[in-house]
Amino acid sequence: MRTTPEQPHRHGWGRRGTALVATTGLILTTLVALANPAQAASTLGASAAEKGRYYGTAIAAGRLGDSTYSTIANREFDMITAENEMKMDATEPSQNQFSYGSGDRILNWALSNGKRVRGHTLAWHGQQPGWMQNMSGSALRSALLNHVTQVATHYKGKIYAWDVVNEAFADDGRGSRRDSNLQRTGNDWIEAAFRAARAADPGAKLCYNDYNTDGINAKSTGVYTMVRDFKSRGVPIDCVGFQAHLGTSLPGDFQANLQRFADLGVDVQLTELDIQQGGNQANMYAAVTNACLAVSRCTGITVWGVRDSDSWRTGANPLLFDSSGNKKAAYTSVLNALNAGGGGGGGGGSTSIDTSAWYVLVNRNSGKALDVYNLSTADGARITQWTRNDGNQQQWQFTSTGDGYYEIRSRLSGKNLDVSGRSTADGGAIVQWTDNNGTNQQWRATISNGYATLISRNSGKALEVQGASTADGAAIVQYSSWNGANQQWQLVRVG
Ligand code: XIL
Repeated sequence: MRTTPEQPHRHGWGRRGTALVATTGLILTTLVALANPAQAASTLGASAAEKGRYYGTAIAAGRLGDSTYSTIANREFDMITAENEMKMDATEPSQNQFSYGSGDRILNWALSNGKRVRGHTLAWHGQQPGWMQNMSGSALRSALLNHVTQVATHYKGKIYAWDVVNEAFADDGRGSRRDSNLQRTGNDWIEAAFRAARAADPGAKLCYNDYNTDGINAKSTGVYTMVRDFKSRGVPIDCVGFQAHLGTSLPGDFQANLQRFADLGVDVQLTELDIQQGGNQANMYAAVTNACLAVSRCTGITVWGVRDSDSWRTGANPLLFDSSGNKKAAYTSVLNALNAGGGGGGGGGSTSIDTSAWYVLVNRNSGKALDVYNLSTADGARITQWTRNDGNQQQWQFTSTGDGYYEIRSRLSGKNLDVSGRSTADGGAIVQWTDNNGTNQQWRATISNGYATLISRNSGKALEVQGASTADGAAIVQYSSWNGANQQWQLVRVG
C-alpha cells in the first residue's frame, strides 16, 4: 500500500492575479504558435514521415470498394498490411497451388497510391489451409519452406518487411515455444523459415511478430532470448513486431521493452495496434505513439483496421475512426503526439512548452514519472516518482506566469507543484498545494536536447529525484542545480 505521511502545517495565500496570469499565458501560447508556424502535418502518415517513421493500417480487400473506407485509408496511412489476404490459407489454399488475387489487389492498391507494404504472414499456426493442418514431420517442414519460398518470391522486391513467423511463443508464463504442428517439426523451424525468406527476397526486412509481448514479461523475454541468439549466430532477422492488441492499460515498461529489443540491433514496429475503448483510450494511444517516438529504432506503427466497424475486435471500438468514418479523440491524440514528438533520436521529449497540453514528466535517470503519491488530492501530498502509467496523477499542465516562469498543475488534483514551507534548502520536499501565486510554486523551464530542467523561483534550486533513486515512491525534492540526469525531465505530451 502506498501511504501518505503527515504533512507540516502550511500557509494559505490569496488567489490574487490568477486571471491575469491565465490570460497572459494564453497570449504567450498564441505568440509561440504564430512565431513557430508548425510543420504540423494534418495526416497520420505525413506526420509520422516527418519523424522518419510510417503510420499504417490493415486493409481488407473486400472493403476497398467502400469509398468512405478507401478514402480514409488512402489519406491517412502510408504503410499497408493485408489483414488476411497474404496468410497461408489465402495464398496456398491447395498444396502447391498458389492464389494471389486478393493479396495482389491490396498490394497494387497500396503501391499505386505511393504506399509501402508489410507482408503478413509467411508461417503461423493459425489460418493454415486444411491440407497443412493435417501434415507433420519432415513433409510439413518441406511444405512450410516451399510456402515461404514461393510467396516471398512472388512478392519479391515489393515488400518493406515480412512477418516471417507469427505468434510462435506460448502464453504459459515461462516463455516457452507454442506447441503447434510447425513447432513439432523441430525447434529450428523458425530460423529455417527466416533463412528461406532471406534467400527468396533479400530486400525485405524480416520480422518476428507476436502478441502479449508488449511489456517485459516471460513471453517477451522468450522472444528476446531467441532474437539475441539469432543475432549472435547470424540467423537473418531485422525486426520484431509487437502486435499491441491492448486492453485498458499500458504496461509501464512498454517503452523499455521496445528499447531492449532495439538494443539487440533490430528494428521494432507496432504491427497490429488497437486499444479497447472505455478506459483512457486517447491517452493510451498518445502514450504508445510517444513510446515509439522515443525509441529511435521504432520505425513505425500500424493500426489493425480503419474504422471501429472494420475491427476484428467486435464491440471494443478500438480504432481511430468511428463506424461512420469520423475522427475519434484517439485520432487527434495520435496526430498531436506525432506532431509534438521528438524524432530521429531526439529523445522523444517536447522541445517547447505548450500551455494547453498535458505532459508526463519522465525522469532522465530513472525513466519514472513525476507522480502525486497515492492519488492524493489533498494540499501537502508529497510528490514522488512512479513507474509510468500516464494516469491523471502523472499528468501536468504548465501555466505561464508571463515572465519566464510556469506553475505546474496536476491533472488529478488541480494543485500546483510547490516547495514545501517555502524551503530554500537542499533536499526541501516537493508537495502539491492549492494555487497561491507564490514564487515557491513557480518554475523556470530550460529545455535542452529534449530534457527540461525546472528551477524554483523562490529557492533557485532544481527539481530532482532524491539521491538519483530509480525506485518507485522515491521522493522528489529540490537540490542545487548540477545538471545531473536525475534533475532532467522529458516532457512527454499525452493530452
Ligand atoms: C485477424 C483478422 O483481423 C481477422 O479478420 C481474422 O478473422 C483473424 O485474424 N494476430 C494476427 C492477425 O497476427 O493476423 C490477426 O488478424 C489478429 C491477431
